[in-house]
Amino acid sequence: MKGIILAGGQGTRLAPLTEVTNKHLLPVGKEPMIWHPVKQLVQANILDILIITSNTHMGDVVNSLGSGKRFGCEFTYRVQENPKGIADALSLGEKFAQGQNIVVLLADNIFEYSIRPHIGAFLEQEIGARVLLKEVGDPDRFAVAALDEKKIMEIEEKPTKPKTNYAVVGCYMYDSQVFELIRKINPSLRGELEITNVNELYLKQGQLQFSFIKGRWADAGTFDSLYEANRILLSTNNNIIE
Ligand code: DAU
Repeated sequence: MKGIILAGGQGTRLAPLTEVTNKHLLPVGKEPMIWHPVKQLVQANILDILIITSNTHMGDVVNSLGSGKRFGCEFTYRVQENPKGIADALSLGEKFAQGQNIVVLLADNIFEYSIRPHIGAFLEQEIGARVLLKEVGDPDRFAVAALDEKKIMEIEEKPTKPKTNYAVVGCYMYDSQVFELIRKINPSLRGELEITNVNELYLKQGQLQFSFIKGRWADAGTFDSLYEANRILLSTNNNIIE
């Protein structure tokens, strides 16, 4: 299994902090934000990791992360020239994946607990994809999943009237079909290739599983949630709880 960290995009919601640097290099706790997804993957024993970021800040990201030696892993880097969406960024990982299963992390997602048990559950399912859910107070900021007892019935990206409080967080596990499915989706109204549309295709095929995450979680894309991400990682000294 390989890991892909998506750290492109413009981070406009955090301006002026993001005028001269990449959102994922801002401090969270005592470390740059992007170190967290790296440590999550390494702790889950995923040591072959692709980092995707914009051309503007690739140099700084490489300066921060290096070869991977300091983390005990190995990095490959790819540039996303235009921020055309999460699924667009992920499509750049096709060659790297070499047909293997992948776990994808959005580099602005901070998890108090390790994602390792969910990777274990994904490896047992053999086919399809797995998304992780978290009950939140502001579901309209995220993709939201409607559930039957054991199944996801529907996922909506940033709904104005969310059907539940279950946010789909930025950690996705996919089998080798994912790149074929990305080729089938079209840009959304905001002009992006949405990862939610990819997950919907897995759902239609009856191949989308889920699990709920434990503990605190933040998507550090806004000032309030960046503050919450800092609170989480300061309380754990930037460690991830097993
Ligand atoms: O945090 C979870 C949410 O993340 C999900 O619930 C949503 O379904 C998903 O669309 C996403 O929503 P955001 O509005 O938070 O996405 P954002 O545009 O902030 O992008 C999240 C990360 O993805 C960002 O930190 C870097 C990466 N990204 C994003 C875009 C648009 C890229 O690498 N390239 C891109 O073109």
